Parts: sequence; structure tokens; C-alpha cells
Amino acid sequence: MKPLPQRAFEFLDLAPGVGDLLEEVQEGLRSTPKYLPSKYFYDKRGSELFERITELPGYYLTRSELDILQDFAPAITKAMGRQCYLVELGSGNCMKTRFLLDTLEDPVAYAPVDICASTLRNAAATLHREYPRLELLPVCADFTRPFPLPKPHVSPRRTVIYFGGSTVGNFTPRQTVPLLEIMASALGQGGVLLVGIDLKKDPRILHRAYNDARGITAAFNLNLLVRINRELDADFQLDCFRHYAFYNPTKSRVEMHLVSTRDQSVTIDGESFSFHRGESILTEYSCKYRMDDFVQLAQDAGFQLRERWTDRRGHFGLLYLEVAEN
Ligand code: TRP
Repeated sequence: MKPLPQRAFEFLDLAPGVGDLLEEVQEGLRSTPKYLPSKYFYDKRGSELFERITELPGYYLTRSELDILQDFAPAITKAMGRQCYLVELGSGNCMKTRFLLDTLEDPVAYAPVDICASTLRNAAATLHREYPRLELLPVCADFTRPFPLPKPHVSPRRTVIYFGGSTVGNFTPRQTVPLLEIMASALGQGGVLLVGIDLKKDPRILHRAYNDARGITAAFNLNLLVRINRELDADFQLDCFRHYAFYNPTKSRVEMHLVSTRDQSVTIDGESFSFHRGESILTEYSCKYRMDDFVQLAQDAGFQLRERWTDRRGHFGLLYLEVAEN
């Protein structure tokens, strides 16, 4: 038996603070049309609500990706090879990643990266119990900004970024290329991006995924205002905003909005923002792709497609992309 590395578990906290939240919220609400950055959905309550979304009957995304990981774990982890360093962006409860960890040969470390400290701490503690010999390097960070990746004890033969959950779809195609470029340069030659994308499909299926009868999706969307009220001492009236999500087929994306039900104003740190009845705050895009279109974006960012997998219903895609030689 190999001795355990000394830093078997080290938590790195680089989460954005209240200052960033205030600045970005004010910037979004000063804009026309108004928007709020979707990364701020994920406070403790938001992460819990999102977990409940992933269990909803209509929210096929997580289950489809799990099916792919389950069915193709041997092929995926074979491509990754032995002694790889697995980094996951937006890891949440790290549930899906177990399929990779269980099949990988001798991984040197796993670094889950998430913006929600409480979720990350819980997930990492559970993983530490289940995989006591795996070096765990959780990083609480906003991955839309550059951050230092911890170095594993044992030097890896390959670094793999797993960017699942269709989180990449929460960026516009225009934002996606520079984001992938940053990943390519962080990975360097031989590095791999394993990315999960939601595929184009019948809009009715998409509609159901983002509009559940139990109102959990609505609660998740509205929780953003709850958080802003609590952390920035704002005065959003929660019953005067409605969750509204729809698929925009010309833009290939689901759009999440919070729509004001009347003329009203909200004060945040001394600044007043007025809303007309029917005016919306855009809270998130969830872009849906044709596989080939996403491959093109990835190529533009300096990746080469090695392999791709889909679930049986063709709802979701997982792409294995390698940093191209230049
Ligand atoms: N990243 C998830 C997605 O694009 C987030 C999400 C699911 C979401 N349901 C939502 C965001 C409802 C806002 C409202 O699917």
C-alpha cells in the first residue's frame, strides 16, 4: 500500500464576496434589459433547490448525463488513462463524478470547484470518507474568473477538466469560445476537456424541464432575489416577481426570467431601481446545441474532438476534447 499523501484534503476558499455581489447586481439592474448573473443562484438554499430540480421528472438533463457516464465510464476513463488529475467545474454535490472516480485507474487527485462553500464542504467530506486514498483538493471559486489550480502531490500524467451538467450552456456561444480558450491554456498540451452539453430537441420537452408543476424551478429562480435581499439588505417584494422560462428556437436557448407583476421600485445599497409591470430581469440562458455546432466552437477555442457519447434518447451529449497541437 502506498502511503497517503500529507495533503490528502485541503480546502481552498476563493469565493466571491459581498462586494462582488453588490457590484454585479447593480451593474445588471442598471442595464437595459435588466439581468442578474446566474452564478449567484448557488448559495446554500439555491444549491439545495437545484439538487431538487435534478430529481424532477421533467428535468431530464442530469439523468441523461448520468446514463452516459454509467454506460460509457469504461471508455471514458480508458481515454483519460492512468494517474490523471481530475478537475471539475461547478461540481455541486459531486454525484455524477463518482462514476468516473470508481472506474479511473489510479487517479492522482480530484479537485471539485464550486462557488457554493457549504455544498462543496459537504460533498468533499463525503467523498473523503468514501475515497480515503484519493487526494482531494476542493476549491471554492468563481470559475468565470482566473484562479490558481492546486497542484497534486503526485505529478499527473494528464489533467482532465470535467465541465458537466450543461453548465457551458449557461454561457452564450460568444462567451463560450474565450472560456474554452482559458481552459485550453490552463490545461496545456495533452490536456483534456470532458464537457456535457444539452442537445436541441422538441421544445415541449425543454419547456417541461424548466417549468415544473411543483414550483421548485420557480422557487430556485426567485431565491436569487431572496439572496440579494438577505446579503445586500435589498427590498425585493418576492410576490411581485414571477418565474418565466421559455425556449427561444431562433437562439436555441431556454431563457429564464423574473417578471415584475406591477410597477414597483427596489432599493439596493441606496440606489433605486424601477420596474414597469411586465418588465423582466434575465437570470439565465441555457443554450442547446447541435453536436457538430458545439464541436466547431471547441475547435475555434483550440480543442480537437477525440470522442463523443450520447444517451439513448439523444437528449444529452458528452464530448472528449483534447488541446490541439499548435
Ligand atoms: N444549469 C442549469 C440548466 O441550464 C440551471 C437551471 C435549471 C436553471 N433549471 C433552472 C436556472 C431554472 C434557472 C431557472 O439547466
